[in-house]
Amino acid sequence: MQGVPQPGPDRFRHGVASFDPGQDRVLLWTLVDGGGPLRWLATADETGRQVVAEGEAAADPVSGVVTVDVEGLSPATTYWYRFEAGDERSPVGRTRTLPADGAQRIRIAATCCARYAQEEFGVYGALAAVDVDLVVHLGDYIYEDDKGDKRPTEPDRTLVSLDDYRARHALHRRDPHLQALHAAHPMVSVWDDHDLADNAWRDGAKSHDPDEHGPWAERKAAAIQAHHEFLPKRLADAGDLSTPWRRLDAGDLVSVLLTETRAHRDEPVGATEDEDVDDPDRTILGPEQRAWLLEQVTDPTPRWMVVVSGTVVSELEFPAPDALDGAMPEKYAVKDGLARNSDQWDGYPAERSALAAALAERGGPTLVLSGDIHSAWAVEGLRDGEGRATAVELVCPPAATTPAGKLLPPGLGAALGAALTRSIEGARWVDLDHYGFVVVELEHDQATATWWWVDPEDHTAARPARTWRIQGGERPSLVEPRRRRGLWRFVAAAVAAAVLVVLVTRRLRASRPLSLPLVGDP
Ligand SMILES: [Fe+2]
Repeated sequence: MQGVPQPGPDRFRHGVASFDPGQDRVLLWTLVDGGGPLRWLATADETGRQVVAEGEAAADPVSGVVTVDVEGLSPATTYWYRFEAGDERSPVGRTRTLPADGAQRIRIAATCCARYAQEEFGVYGALAAVDVDLVVHLGDYIYEDDKGDKRPTEPDRTLVSLDDYRARHALHRRDPHLQALHAAHPMVSVWDDHDLADNAWRDGAKSHDPDEHGPWAERKAAAIQAHHEFLPKRLADAGDLSTPWRRLDAGDLVSVLLTETRAHRDEPVGATEDEDVDDPDRTILGPEQRAWLLEQVTDPTPRWMVVVSGTVVSELEFPAPDALDGAMPEKYAVKDGLARNSDQWDGYPAERSALAAALAERGGPTLVLSGDIHSAWAVEGLRDGEGRATAVELVCPPAATTPAGKLLPPGLGAALGAALTRSIEGARWVDLDHYGFVVVELEHDQATATWWWVDPEDHTAARPARTWRIQGGERPSLVEPRRRRGLWRFVAAAVAAAVLVVLVTRRLRASRPLSLPLVGDP
């Protein structure tokens, strides 16, 4: 593991980053205090001598941000880049283009949920040191609230204005672990609710009070603008920052479909209003994105389809006695014997059914990457009309918010995780207790997902903790690691028993002259 890098020179103290790689292009980002003209270079070597592209640009005088769309690059190639303003040079960043047709494998990491005031960013530092081609940020890159007392935040209040959201993003970008992550890998991002406000929806948010925070439309626009300034993306509609849905093609091996599930959705309903949950017109995507997604997922060209959603897509409802309402994990409510988190796709089942039907029509293997619920899951979900799973969903643990199980008395997280695995159809594994990230290696016939656990205060202690294999058939399925582990345990136990028998036999033989008289043998 590498050490924590030092921040760049003063004017470049927010580091560098790269986003939305294609097979021949990538977005390069930096922030220059005070804005103004600067020069950028992309090179084929880390020392910066073999320049492959260069140019001039101007950083925005207010935000200081600049994004450069570099074209003419080669597929599946690593590049280094830097910026220069006057005599000052930025830190050097590394990025990588996506592969063209014929690629044998790609490694994609996912991370999410980082509340600056609540935890150190060691998870990001650990991920910076892992060999991946692309990092997907699943949202909650910032939190709009001021919860947590581990580190002072800027601004020291709930975010409302554009300046507020910019300041919080800038604070994150001065964190050395996050700078290291951005300098090491290209990223694609989607936002989740806290990037805007808790449980945000089209016309409001749970914690948004118009009397205190002003019009929601203005706050939402401010949050989205700051998000785009710090996490630039190739928009569906270049003139509308609220349209971040897009597709990245890693040749014919994988297509990554990035969605947003907060800015256009209908208002979430509680479990006390089940009749609304089942309304066939309810939307989490909004009409434009829905039409786009349902068309994209039927494309038979890519071997693998990876759908990225800030919120969990699979069915995570489970039977529970009504008496447990209020005692469930955050965001769950219980009604009529069913526990449901209606803030995720479980609150929009009709649209999920449409997505599952489209995936079934394509018939190829699909993975879903999601986060938001501060826990790690492996799920065979998105059941079609015949009740069969159409995708494997991999849920990412938090980078720097308290894992759900750590909010419970010691030991209960593991017990609850086991209970959820038993209670929820298709849920094959649940971990509620760890910070970390997940890495998916996709090959033609299979994918391998590995969850890493990280101590946020010690990024050098990162370790791959759990691996699941996904078979790439028409209906992708998770290969149960416990069976393999059980087999290894059986083999290990058999070997240990054999060794024990040999040792005991030898010992008995060696000790026989002494033991014979003791047992009265003649
Ligand atoms: Fe979160």
